[in-house]
Amino acid sequence: MGIPDADMLAKLKLVNMVLLEALRLYCPVIMLVRKTSEDMKLGNLLIPKETCITIPIIKIHRSKEYWGEDANEFNPIRFANGVSKAGKHPNALLAFSIGPRVCIGQNFAMLEAKTVLALILQRSFGKQGVKGPSYSFFSGSLNEMKRLKMDAAQIVLDTTSNDITPRVLPQYHKWCPRYGETILYWFGTRPVVCITDPDLAKQILSNKFGFYVKPKCSPAIQALTGNGVALVNGLEWVRRRRIVNPAFSVDKLKVMVKRMATCTISMLEEWKNEANAAVGQCRKIEINGEFRKLTAAIIAHTAFGSSYSQGEEAFEAQNELQHYCAASFLDIFIPGSHYLPTPSKVQLWKLDRRVKNSLRDIIKSRLNSCNPDCNYGDDLLGLIIAASENSDSKEGPKLSMDEIVEECKTFFFAGHETSSNLLTWTVFLLSIHQDWQTRLREEVLKECGMGVPDSDMLARLRLATMVLLEALRLYCPVVEMFREASKDMKLGNLTIPKDALVSIPLAKIHRSKEYWGEDCNEFNPIRFKNGISKAAKHPNAFLAFGIGPRTCVGQNFAMLEAKAVLAIVLQRFTLSLSSEYKHAPVDNLALQPQYGLPIVVKPLSTQAQNI
Ligand code: HEM
Repeated sequence: MGIPDADMLAKLKLVNMVLLEALRLYCPVIMLVRKTSEDMKLGNLLIPKETCITIPIIKIHRSKEYWGEDANEFNPIRFANGVSKAGKHPNALLAFSIGPRVCIGQNFAMLEAKTVLALILQRSFGKQGVKGPSYSFFSGSLNEMKRLKMDAAQIVLDTTSNDITPRVLPQYHKWCPRYGETILYWFGTRPVVCITDPDLAKQILSNKFGFYVKPKCSPAIQALTGNGVALVNGLEWVRRRRIVNPAFSVDKLKVMVKRMATCTISMLEEWKNEANAAVGQCRKIEINGEFRKLTAAIIAHTAFGSSYSQGEEAFEAQNELQHYCAASFLDIFIPGSHYLPTPSKVQLWKLDRRVKNSLRDIIKSRLNSCNPDCNYGDDLLGLIIAASENSDSKEGPKLSMDEIVEECKTFFFAGHETSSNLLTWTVFLLSIHQDWQTRLREEVLKECGMGVPDSDMLARLRLATMVLLEALRLYCPVVEMFREASKDMKLGNLTIPKDALVSIPLAKIHRSKEYWGEDCNEFNPIRFKNGISKAAKHPNAFLAFGIGPRTCVGQNFAMLEAKAVLAIVLQRFTLSLSSEYKHAPVDNLALQPQYGLPIVVKPLSTQAQNI
């Protein structure tokens, strides 16, 4: 008479068989109807356009041909080996239909079981001392989270306030004072445990056996971010990471600095012309938009070398995808629903096809242009193709065309969005802390003069590194990371059940008084003077690039790029915050300023204008 747990529910095979047999004999929907949209060949029949076709499920479910002599009898045992083996034809049970328009409610019965399970888990976590908002049928905590996010989007923070949690993580802002630091909440019927202890975060992110995996994303998010190294798990991840890693080695990145500088200088030419044409040589520029364009150009150049303009076209379409994805992040995912051709889905499919086709063209021409030494070029694409071609067969097969396409999408999304936001928030902080802007400019002029910085000069910019790390702490582009337990796991004093999600809210850990001290919400780059691990009271309290085996593969690229852009901007312009700015950071899959970042730029000297 105990409360059933997940394993017990899964063992209720007889109940399942009886339900399926009831659905066969008394199917709630007795007939399906379709109309042909053009002339169609169907088996031996030619069906003209606009013909209605009916599929009488009730008749098929009683056909002796498919169900045998006892077709009209109640015999649940026929489902003992599953639906596809119950009749003589694997598709003879049509109670939920089949194909892309399969009944999206077929999981409803399952949902009821999951709801029971959710309530049991809630009690079991309660006994472990973990509390949270109570579970709501079907949506879990998602409706409350959506409401909190919508309210948060209306808040405008004081410009001097760096505590962005009420805006970007409003759920934890509300729940933590009520339930404590470790919280249980629900993505639909899935439990999520929020972990803010850096020791536990390290245990999760550094698990060597892959027991905390990247959760499966919705098809829309996969289309946006690419199903590349950042999303795959297990041996597939090992194979991809091995191929991708060498492209980001320090010596390869050194070569890319020149391309980064060229793109930056070309953007600044435009700023200079606009400023010169303006009264008092001051020009207001929406700098987030500028940095988005710049980092897109940089990744297109560094990824595709001379084919960059084709790459830019592909990435423009990928950028458009983001509008469709950020909005759907907190939607309840209903299996099968991604086949429904809603207007936004159709647009998403079109854009995805455009991105893939353009990338395929670039890759094909690169593969065809290979010289006898198998040199495919020193850009990211060339380095990845070469690493894939040279990989040992023991390490797994070479990357296929589609896999390379997905990796390119991953670089673009992971590399451009995060980097532009790092630059944006760094400029925001420097425009408020003019003393730091002056100190950084002095450092840049000392180490690089007015020349184009190279990687050695950039390596000597110690203050710039500290400022960038402090910007990453206060305004981390990735606000929260998720993992899924692939088996029941012990985590500190907690038991995390298989399939549960764990969330690690970086933006919260990065401003914990316990680890960062009383001035945790203040801009104080000096805390990084002895390196990252000594900046806080806990060596793993800084998580902007993640930690463990899945740490950001592009972190050296990102830091080099940010330093190069910052140095070249500071050589040439002063930056101050426009009075029109509204302080409203928002998490659109990366941390953006909701109303942009208007900055007044002023060329520094006539010498600087001769760039
Ligand atoms: C300021 C810039 C950046 C930040 C803050 C950042 C942050 C992160 C974080 C937090 C992760 C770990 C996610 C997790 O464990 O769930 C990650 C992974 C990743 N990042 Fe970055 N990133 C940045 C720039 C880049 C760039 C420039 C690239 C490539 C051009 C890149 C490519 C990747 C990839 C491929 C992964 C997945 C690694 C794996 O799963 O093995 N990132 N990044």
